[in-house]
Amino acid sequence: MRKKIVAGNWKMNKNFSDGLTLASEVVNIVNDELNDDVIVIMCSPFIHLAQVAKNAQESDKVFVGAQNMSEHTAGAYTGDISAEMIKSVGAEYVILGHSERREYHNETNDQLAKRVDLALEMGLTPIFCCGESLEIRESGKEVSYVCNQLTESLFHLTEDEIQKVVIAYEPIWAIGTGKTASSQQAQDMHKSMRDFLAGQFGQEVADEVSILYGGSAKPDNAKELFAQPDVDGGLIGGASLKARDFVEIAKSF
Ligand code: G3H
Repeated sequence: MRKKIVAGNWKMNKNFSDGLTLASEVVNIVNDELNDDVIVIMCSPFIHLAQVAKNAQESDKVFVGAQNMSEHTAGAYTGDISAEMIKSVGAEYVILGHSERREYHNETNDQLAKRVDLALEMGLTPIFCCGESLEIRESGKEVSYVCNQLTESLFHLTEDEIQKVVIAYEPIWAIGTGKTASSQQAQDMHKSMRDFLAGQFGQEVADEVSILYGGSAKPDNAKELFAQPDVDGGLIGGASLKARDFVEIAKSF
């Protein structure tokens, strides 16, 4: 049975003190209210990560992730953060290939393939992001675009390895815009992605991979999105910045 996951991507929000307040609020509400079968992940800025990971130790349902990671193991890479550093503070997940990183930092599928490998080697779970722009969606080529992202960054993995990856489908036109993909649009894409994974790794393996939806997910639309058979949770941006909203989303399964 694949995992149900709700991951919050704080992006570049919250100073240190506000971030720690948010983290402890999330941990408290999750401990009081959330069922055991949902995994909650907080992906904070690097600065907060070590302390947020300490807060998360207060819950067996809350985990911590970074928002990015270098494809190099160590060395003269000013400003970069390695897999080992992330792991060493107690984080267990790392978002890779978010569309904002692809757009503003020119991250490529090849580079992301290396980061996925390194994360897995280090025992971190990659949350691999993919998704199309509005222009690509309007051209009707969204499925082949997203499948190409999967091919170039994930198809070199073994059957064992791919099952350790979480995939997040985030249509760029829905991120931070208030315009959510309809639950049917999300389901159609997730199903196409799972079929595509099955073509490469086999159906049994594809059925084990959690595919999250991201893009203006909120407490009032999460239930319908998560009710779709191939939507296994969400990668939440704006709504992860308020503990109550974030946990309400996690309670929407
Ligand atoms: O990583 C999260 C996504 O980019 C979604 O962001 O919920 O603010 O639209 P959003």
